[in-house]
Amino acid sequence: MLRSILRSSTSNASRRGFASGASPERKVAILGAAGGIGQPLSLLMKLNPLVTRLALYDIAGTPGVAADVSHINTGSEVVGYMGDENLGKALEGSDVVIIPAGVPRKPGMTRDDLFNINAGIVKSLCTAIAKYCPNVGTSVAQMALVNMISNPVNSTVPIAAEVFKKAGTYDEKRLFGVTTLDVVRAKTFYAGKAKVNVAEVNVPVVGGHAGITILPLFSQATPKANLSDDEIVALTKRTQDGGTEVVEAKAGKGSATLSMAYAGAVFADACLKGLNGAPDVVECSFVQSTVTELPFFASKVRIGKNGVDEVLGLGALSDFEKEGLEKLKPELKASIEKGIKFAHQN
Ligand code: NAD
Ligand code: LMR
Repeated sequence: MLRSILRSSTSNASRRGFASGASPERKVAILGAAGGIGQPLSLLMKLNPLVTRLALYDIAGTPGVAADVSHINTGSEVVGYMGDENLGKALEGSDVVIIPAGVPRKPGMTRDDLFNINAGIVKSLCTAIAKYCPNVGTSVAQMALVNMISNPVNSTVPIAAEVFKKAGTYDEKRLFGVTTLDVVRAKTFYAGKAKVNVAEVNVPVVGGHAGITILPLFSQATPKANLSDDEIVALTKRTQDGGTEVVEAKAGKGSATLSMAYAGAVFADACLKGLNGAPDVVECSFVQSTVTELPFFASKVRIGKNGVDEVLGLGALSDFEKEGLEKLKPELKASIEKGIKFAHQN
């Protein structure tokens, strides 16, 4: 009921801001733009000079967010869209679509507890992506690069893949589960423990994005540091439980939003750089993969003009990491299968 009132009262998109002459022109759409992640992510994408058009979509609240963000004196044009009937216009011509739409956790919940609500949201948004935003002007219709933030990422990415397959638009190179926040956390926690400059730290995080499926590879962290086994175990656990740490600290008011907006902006920036032909753009992401026997897996990915250029292997693992890898597989497999089953049944 509330949803239909919102829809009918907001049939017109609100157009704000001005176009810049920057080239190449890149349109980014954010679905869920009025939410806890969506708002700061909209701000950060407005600050990104690679963006020429920013489409902010939500079921409510986007005119205000778009008006606010559009006053920032950077070159991109900002347009707010609200309600299902405006989703197509928000998506049309997008190069990158970022999806932080859906409900967040409360204390005591797992990410999988969000499945029942978020699976349907993701499915309907991906159905619209398949319909509205294959890029025009190329001989082959190309999907936008989709950056999936909505949880449970281990299931929402497989749902998106199945929706796109059904629509005949699936390109495995263009679908990314955003796991950058795990990398951001691993870098921060490692730098604190190793007492090194956080700006210089690199740590790959592989697997998936929930609990033990998050596997930081501290044996590959740089700059190297002499950490004890106990310290590595503690750092691993803190990275795996980073989301829960925030959920508990927010005490019922949601999950990570600001650090996630930062992480989402870093990942979207990497996608834009890759599309624009920048060399050596490498980020960890949950993608279709043959790195393990699982059909989707997070690992380092080289991003280029067509999306995923190369899914990089795991490199040498410590015994502790090898054990973690075997332990995570059953849970990750079950989450992937749950997503695929949902997409087929609904
Ligand atoms: P939020 O409730 O603050 O915002 C969600 C927004 O989605 C709301 O504005 C809501 O109106 C909108 N929305 C709901 N249904 C929609 C639809 N059909 N179309 C468009 N928009 C819709 O939640 P949040 O804190 O921003 O979190 C959003 C999601 O991101 C959650 O699922 C959360 O678990 C996930 N998340 C993922 C990561 C990650 O690392 N991948 C990190 C943090 C949060
Ligand atoms: C996170 O890692 O912060 C997100 O996945 C949100 C959550 O529910 O923990």
